[in-house]
Amino acid sequence: MIWLVGYKGMLGTELCNVLKNEKLEFIGTEIEVDITDYNILNDFITAQKGKNVNFSCIINCAAYTNVDKAESDKDLCYKINVTGPENLAKIAAKNNIPLIHISTDYVFDGKASVPYTEDMEINPTGVYGTTKALGEKAIQKQTDNYFIIRTAWLYGIYGRNFVKTMLRIFKEKGAAKVINDQFGTPTYANDLARALAFFAHSFESSSSSSEKPKQGIYHFTDIGNISWYDFACAINEAAFEQGLIAQKAILTPCSTEEYPTPAPRPSYSVLSKEKIAKILPWSIPDWHESLLNYLKEEKTAIN
Ligand SMILES: NC(=O)c1ccc[n+]([C@@H]2O[C@H](COP(=O)([O-])OP(=O)(O)OC[C@H]3O[C@@H](n4cnc5c(N)ncnc54)[C@H](OP(=O)(O)O)[C@@H]3O)[C@@H](O)[C@H]2O)c1
Repeated sequence: MIWLVGYKGMLGTELCNVLKNEKLEFIGTEIEVDITDYNILNDFITAQKGKNVNFSCIINCAAYTNVDKAESDKDLCYKINVTGPENLAKIAAKNNIPLIHISTDYVFDGKASVPYTEDMEINPTGVYGTTKALGEKAIQKQTDNYFIIRTAWLYGIYGRNFVKTMLRIFKEKGAAKVINDQFGTPTYANDLARALAFFAHSFESSSSSSEKPKQGIYHFTDIGNISWYDFACAINEAAFEQGLIAQKAILTPCSTEEYPTPAPRPSYSVLSKEKIAKILPWSIPDWHESLLNYLKEEKTAIN
C-alpha cells in the first residue's frame, strides 16, 4: 500500500490515475492530514497500522507552489515546504518506509550553461526555491531512505499551469507576449507520475530486489531545452491543429526585464536526466511529443 500525500494537486491527481492504471494500491491524503503537524501524521499512520495497513512507501506531492505569493507569505511557505517534508521524513524513518519527495529546478540559481546534474551545487534565489532546498536538507537529516525527485515546468490536465494559461489567453485575447530568455524543459505531469510509479512499484514486497533504485536525488523532466516563448509557439500551433483554438494567436517574444515578477526565475534550468534514464525501463519522452499527447487528453476532457 502506498501513502500518497497531496493527492488532489496537479501532480497528485495525475499520479492517482497512473497508480490506478498500474493496479498499485494507495491511500491519498490532503490537507485533512496536514503535513505541517507531526502529531496528525503520526496519528494517521498509527490508525492505519491498527487497520493492518502497512505502507510500502510515502510519496509527497504536497507543497506550497505559488512561487510569487511565497515572497510575501514566507512563514506558511516554510511550514509546508520545510517543516512538512521534515515531519514526513521523521515518520518515514520511524516506520522504516522509503520517502519519495518532489523538489524543483528552483533550488538552482539558473546561472549554469550545461544541464544541472544531481550533485551540482544548489543556490536558490527566491523564497519558494529556498524553502524547497531546505526541505531537501531536512529530509536528508531525518532519513537515509529518501528519493528526492527534482522536476521543472510541470503541466497537466489538473490545476493551473502555463499551458492552460496560454490556451486561455489565446482564446480571450488572441495575442501574448512571452519570455524568450529563460530556458528549461516542459514536463507533462503524466510522464513524471509514471516515473514516480516506477519507484513506488520497486518498493512493493512483490518486486525483486534487483529492481530497487538506490536512495538519493534524481532529476526528471521531459527531454529538450527551449524558452517559454518556444513553448508558447508550439502550444499555439498544436492547439490550432487540434481545434482547441479557432485561430492562431499572435505571439511576441519579450525579455525577463520586460516582465518583472515578485520572485526571481532561473534563466537556465535544464536538468540532466542521465541518472534516472539508466534505471527507468522506458525512454523519457521529448517535450513536444508529450505536449501533443497532453493536448489530445485536454481535447477529450473538453468534449
Ligand atoms: N508546478 C510546477 O511547475 C512544478 C515545478 C517543479 C517542481 N514542482 C513540485 O512538484 C510538486 C507537485 O506540484 P503541483 O504543481 O502538483 O502542486 P499543487 O497543484 O499546488 O498541489 C499541491 C497540493 O498540496 C496540498 N497541500 C498544501 N499544503 C498542504 C498541507 N499542509 N498538508 C497536506 N497537503 C497540503 C495542496 O492542497 P491545497 O490546494 O488545498 O492547498 C495541493 O493539493 C511540488 O513539490 C512542487 O514543488 C512543481
